[in-house]
Amino acid sequence: MSKSSRLTGFYKLEPAERIKALREFADLSEEEAAALSGGAGLAQEQANHMVENAVGVFGLPLGVATNFTINGRDYLVPMAIEEPSVVAGASFAARLVQDGGGFSTCSDEPVMIGQLQVLDARDPWAARFELLVAKERILALANAQDPVIVKLGGGARDLEVRVIEHSAVGAMLVLHLLYDTRDAMGANTVNTALEAVAPLVAEISGGRTLLRILSNLADHRLARAKGVVPSASLARAGFSGEQVARGIMEAWAFAAIDPYRAATHNKGIMNGVDAVVIATGNDWRAIEAGAHAFAARSGRYTSLSTWTVDAGGNLVGTLELPMAVGIVGGATRVHPTAKAALKLLGVKTARELAEVITAVGLAQNLAALRALASEGIQRGHMKLHARQVAIAAGAEGEMVDRVVQTMLEEKLVRLDKAEAILKRLKTQA
Ligand code: MEV
Repeated sequence: MSKSSRLTGFYKLEPAERIKALREFADLSEEEAAALSGGAGLAQEQANHMVENAVGVFGLPLGVATNFTINGRDYLVPMAIEEPSVVAGASFAARLVQDGGGFSTCSDEPVMIGQLQVLDARDPWAARFELLVAKERILALANAQDPVIVKLGGGARDLEVRVIEHSAVGAMLVLHLLYDTRDAMGANTVNTALEAVAPLVAEISGGRTLLRILSNLADHRLARAKGVVPSASLARAGFSGEQVARGIMEAWAFAAIDPYRAATHNKGIMNGVDAVVIATGNDWRAIEAGAHAFAARSGRYTSLSTWTVDAGGNLVGTLELPMAVGIVGGATRVHPTAKAALKLLGVKTARELAEVITAVGLAQNLAALRALASEGIQRGHMKLHARQVAIAAGAEGEMVDRVVQTMLEEKLVRLDKAEAILKRLKTQA
């Protein structure tokens, strides 16, 4: 049986005490604990091997969301994010979903799409036919590039060949190499395979190959999460559970129909998704690009999630999106904090990580909609926002709380106000 992710009072602890609790939960070493605390994260020397012209490293707060039960197993979820309320929102919403039995998730095999653009084929339809006839030869050549991934059960799986009859430069063929990248995100593997098969594809099609690059619209690699919340759990001051559940469904209907709202609704989902993607050293630009392209797949940009109320009055949410993340390769195995974050999560496969991230995205969406459909988000936000304003005004130590409290009492959270309060408190001291 897994340990419980319901760490009561975790939020009240000091950071060092929280780290201690994480060490116990995930059996972390001293080095791993230091990597999470920021005491020994990515060093300048390592950064210098990762990007060009490196001068240093850039920090972000790392929080841990509690209460995640997914497919019967409990997870503590590392989240790297600068925005207040996100970690608390995820933990709170995950707790609500625990009342309905926790999240259930599933995902596709980790199959990426590599695109090969073929121009100047004399007869694109005949070329398409010949390419499909030669499928096994093309797949074999692709697989010869990375025997290790093939041995691990991955490799090139299939071909799709599309004819685009009208583009700005005339007809073109687009070959999709479907490639199972196992526990890697897979960009390098797929791009290498594409470059290797391009001459053969040119020869068979009688055309000229140009771009050879993976697609971030990884719609063969979708992850899905579902969460159910008994409406009684949604009740809050001045709002019955039924009212909040109905409000969440109405909020979703707005996002489903209106791209202006869908962009913000999906941004709320990505608050959770990106925070875990970043904490685990994955490529969040790839995930963002894939998510929004997927949200627009019908031709009109829409919500990535759905929210309905079932016959028993329970709120039911689902989320589906491309989730090309890895647990091997890239920064996941180089960045000390990402490595420790993966250890904390305890995920064994890239698919498991993809599913956890999707559950966090759904939780984040629930937290935002629940607040928006009842009292609004500002009340919860203001306190955390006030802390940032107080710190920006120069408050330190116990002065932070005193400045925050005074701003909230005086119902004005602004930098000039915080500076004035700080000055006043300092002269009183
Ligand atoms: C803010 O970062 C995210 C929200 O705007 C999401 C939403 O509106 O659903 C609160």
